[in-house]
Amino acid sequence: MRILTGIQPSGALHLGNYFGAMRPAIELQQQGEAFYFIADYHSMTSLTDAKLRRQYTLDVALDFLACGLDPARCVFWVQSDVPEVTELAWLLSTVTPMGLLERCHSFKDKVAKLGDGEIGSVNHGLFAYPVLMAADILLFDSNVVPVGKDQKQHLEVTRDIAGKFNQQYGQTFVIPEPRIREEGAAVPGLDGQKMSKSYGNTIELFGEEKATRKKIMGIVMDSRTPAEPKPDADKNLAIQLLKLVAPTEVATDYENRLRAGGLGYGDLKKTLFENYWQHFAAARARRAELAANQDYVRQILRDGAEKARAVATKVLQRAKSASGLG
Ligand code: ADP
Ligand code: TRP
Repeated sequence: MRILTGIQPSGALHLGNYFGAMRPAIELQQQGEAFYFIADYHSMTSLTDAKLRRQYTLDVALDFLACGLDPARCVFWVQSDVPEVTELAWLLSTVTPMGLLERCHSFKDKVAKLGDGEIGSVNHGLFAYPVLMAADILLFDSNVVPVGKDQKQHLEVTRDIAGKFNQQYGQTFVIPEPRIREEGAAVPGLDGQKMSKSYGNTIELFGEEKATRKKIMGIVMDSRTPAEPKPDADKNLAIQLLKLVAPTEVATDYENRLRAGGLGYGDLKKTLFENYWQHFAAARARRAELAANQDYVRQILRDGAEKARAVATKVLQRAKSASGLG
């Protein structure tokens, strides 16, 4: 079974990315042939700063490896190091109905944020994003694609495109199965909304100590006194985050104490910070080692690209032959 997923290098990774996407991907390494890549071509549809893209690409590699991605178990590469994907994207785009892309929520949401006059300035890459994503998946004969709920529709588009190509040119592509994560699907951010880079409400995975403590201590809570019992303790943001980063007994104990009354929000937030810091202590140390040894990290990505490319060239050739090219 080949498992494939991509993550965009669009900013510092946060707890939502970790519990929602990275940890499940790391666990899945045990269950099949894992193919994971950093989607730098995709990031061009929203991030236009070249220096930042280079920085974030390395950061994502460091973050993932520090958190337990094992290069011995998994093929890990940077998308643009296997440029065959863009050629396949062209082939696929010729069997993709415009309507299929026009219906994509992610595209419609981005367009909806613009004024009437600005629609014409939406870049074509954003519109064609799902076609490139389909190419990512189909180029590697992927069987299973683990993604968050927000990507469900893109997987449906991929299956549609694969079916259309197979119908037009004969059986060429494996039809992939999505694996949509429900549980842990929405880690709340500092303001209680879904944690997201675009809402500026994140707790970074490897943020600086002082700044992160300040962020956590700054979480706004209600004005009930510490002594007051809080029957809604399970809805408390710090408790929800504590459940992710602390041992179960600790989180349960704090939840019970908050419910009973007598626990102040300051103490709760302090505990949250300490457990967050501890939870990622080993990964943080590994990340520092990797950051000091960037040649090693680049070599992992080069080796990954080479292995990925060996698969990609075969599948691309299959698609070209089927469609009367090459
Ligand atoms: P962001 O919203 O910060 O820009 P992305 O859209 O780049 O994050 O998400 C990358 C991956 O992390 C996706 O698989 C997404 O489902 C997951 N993810 C992002 N935010 C959260 C969250 N708050 N809770 C759970 N998973 C998340
Ligand atoms: N669109 C995905 C996201 O934003 C990233 C991605 C690009 C991806 N190509 C992929 C995910 C292929 C799975 C498979 O999260």
